[in-house]
Amino acid sequence: MTVHLADWLELAHTLDAASVDLLYADPPFNTGKTQQGIERVSTKEPRPSGSGSESNPSPAAGARLAYADTFASTAAWLAWLRERLEATLPALKPTASILLHVDWRTSHHARLLLDELLGPDHFVNHLIWTYGLGGSSPRRFARKHDDILFYAVDPERYHFEPPMVPATSNRMKGRLKKATDVLDIPAINNMAHERTGYPTQKPLALLRLLVTACCPPGGLVLDPCCGSGTTLEAAAASGRRPLGCDINPHAVAIARRRLASSKG
Ligand SMILES: C[S@@+](CC[C@H](N)C(=O)[O-])C[C@H]1O[C@@H](n2cnc3c(N)ncnc32)[C@H](O)[C@@H]1O
Repeated sequence: MTVHLADWLELAHTLDAASVDLLYADPPFNTGKTQQGIERVSTKEPRPSGSGSESNPSPAAGARLAYADTFASTAAWLAWLRERLEATLPALKPTASILLHVDWRTSHHARLLLDELLGPDHFVNHLIWTYGLGGSSPRRFARKHDDILFYAVDPERYHFEPPMVPATSNRMKGRLKKATDVLDIPAINNMAHERTGYPTQKPLALLRLLVTACCPPGGLVLDPCCGSGTTLEAAAASGRRPLGCDINPHAVAIARRRLASSKG
């Protein structure tokens, strides 16, 4: 089984030692809210003849999707995360990396936690995913990014294949350049084909970039809070082996469906 209906902690205890090449975790952010969405269902509708295609996947409203993102305190969130990271560390290969996806609420705490668990020398990057969506505020700069903390189990041996992204300068226009630690990738828009309706779903382009950069071909990618399965789809589509879990049955059903259709 690739996608388990399980708590991260429970799955961690079943993993083989030194088996995982990349741990990407996008846990609840401790927003204090219930994250909600409506499942988007593709229905096969016949297209007018001569359109060149037999089917037209179009969205329809489905089930209500939600997960609780509330902890008693930041300390409770950190204790929850610490227990799960500690249980997962033995499953990481010596060449493995960790990508922990958080935001302004907890990135400073999470960084200190990873420094403590792995050692500050194991820090590789503090990636900024800038997504552009959302409102503004008259009281502060608008918050338009998430934080992805990149640590290596062994800073001398971890896998890294620099991702190439389109250059933006006039001199380099039309060419590719190595990505920086600021990843400018739009959030999923309402009409995007990949949109499942699962709350806080991340874009496939972001996960494809991270997985291909940080996991060798054929390697095992673990996403223990897999939600709609974006990481797992990115892993499967790029020739890596996906493994995930989530405590939400809707998330697991969506992730399994995505994986099945990405395998054709
Ligand atoms: C930020 S969302 C992940 C979104 C995902 N990256 C995507 O692209 O759809 C966090 C997920 O963590 C799950 N979760 C919360 N507590 C968990 C636990 N103890 N073990 C596993 N998953 C958990 C939630 O159900 C939710 O789906």
